[in-house]
Amino acid sequence: MVSRRGFLAGLALAPVVYAAGCSVRPSVSAANGTRPLPIPSLAPSSVGADGVRRFTLRAQAGSSEMLRGVSTPTWGYSGSVLGPTVRARRGERVELAISNALPEATSVHWHGMHLPAKFDGGPHQMIAPGAVWTPSWTVQQQAATLWYHPHPHGATEKHVHRGLSGFFLIDDDAADALPLPKEYGVDDIPLVIQDRRFTADGAVDESDPTDVGLLGDTIVTNGIAGAHLRVTTERVRLRVLNGSSGRLYNLALADGRAFHLTGTDGGLLPKPVALEQLQLSPGERAEIVIALRPGENTTLRSLPITDRAGIDRAAEFGFDDTFDILALQAAETLRPSAPLPASLIPMTALAAATTPATRSFDLQWFMINNRRMDMNRIDMTIPVDTTEVWSVRNKDNWPHNFHVHDVQFQILTVDGKAPPPALSGWKDTVYTSSGSTYTLAMRFADHTDPTYPYMFHCHLLHHEDQGMMGQFLVLAPGQRPAPMAMDMGAKGHH
Ligand code: C2O
Ligand code: CU
Ligand code: CU
Repeated sequence: MVSRRGFLAGLALAPVVYAAGCSVRPSVSAANGTRPLPIPSLAPSSVGADGVRRFTLRAQAGSSEMLRGVSTPTWGYSGSVLGPTVRARRGERVELAISNALPEATSVHWHGMHLPAKFDGGPHQMIAPGAVWTPSWTVQQQAATLWYHPHPHGATEKHVHRGLSGFFLIDDDAADALPLPKEYGVDDIPLVIQDRRFTADGAVDESDPTDVGLLGDTIVTNGIAGAHLRVTTERVRLRVLNGSSGRLYNLALADGRAFHLTGTDGGLLPKPVALEQLQLSPGERAEIVIALRPGENTTLRSLPITDRAGIDRAAEFGFDDTFDILALQAAETLRPSAPLPASLIPMTALAAATTPATRSFDLQWFMINNRRMDMNRIDMTIPVDTTEVWSVRNKDNWPHNFHVHDVQFQILTVDGKAPPPALSGWKDTVYTSSGSTYTLAMRFADHTDPTYPYMFHCHLLHHEDQGMMGQFLVLAPGQRPAPMAMDMGAKGHH
């Protein structure tokens, strides 16, 4: 048995080999033994005579070098780990043919996407091994950084942990017109942050989950540990996704400098917000812009979690940990970037902070309102063309967050007060502090379906797998629920 420290030290001497399935930009120098951050390739697509943009993805097993010189068995989409970045424009109709070459059934959920429930990719749209699932919808929302990941009931943490996750970027004219960094892989960088533990033989360790799920001691960014980004422009935009199972990150730059938050889960903010720290819980995204001077180096780091009142086992939940996430190395000469615009995308309020709540949700242990998920139970039906206000309370001494499928919501209040600027944009996932109550406004505009439900759940994947989830139908006037009976033992249902 080698000690963990000795094992990792040995890795530093191993030759540089890049993860297969990722296109990696060449870097001039790799300081401190780091490797260049892999940039997921853009998923190829073709537009047919019918105007539909078509993609294909294949869930498959392979191996990748998360740790340099070590081969780790991983799962990926159309590659050995993670997946290509799917990119489409608002107004466009998309179709994705997803085949499953894994040894077990999986599903693909479009996190943050407004789309018909039967194409949502939740636990009711399983893809059996060897099967192909082909959802299609029209993108009807503003430019945003979304993502896709598996959602099999009870096994989401395992599937994500093994490497299944990808970005889904939506573009639109309004965002294109803004002078933000937007050259993919150059000054507009997708960055998925995950944590992993490895066994002595280099496999991803799936043992010993804590009460917040699997926590790792190694940070993996875009599929590799120990990455750096060579910055060649004065400003760089990072589209950050917390793709971890149960870990919260408190992002900051190592030298304490401020950065700007320009977007959250559902799109760009009304205006950039200067921050020195930004907390992201699992499933949340943030677009941040960092300014660097020629030749400068800094590090994106995660600091201990400061918001911990009411959490009784902070150390066990990883709240005390500090990690280097990504080294940023500016070139000696930087291409000029436009200054950040004073305003970005305006937002119209869906409801007033004083609007009474339509429904309320208590989060505790693995339950929402004292119930665990039952795929055969519809927890609520929502009349189409309504705006609802949901009141969500963490009445626990555990961290939880709250994610709603189908919609992006606005946070009206946090414990009765206006939310901080970082929570003032469109969100589909919100962290809930222990003891706090959040009111969320959301609109159920269309996509009625009496059969297929959408989910709402805690996005700590272990909690979700344990049943901290419920289901709702969006119904047309006069429509009655007609849910499909689920055989929970069925492997493939499509
Ligand atoms: Cu990102 Cu229901 O999930
Ligand atoms: Cu989702
Ligand atoms: Cu939870």
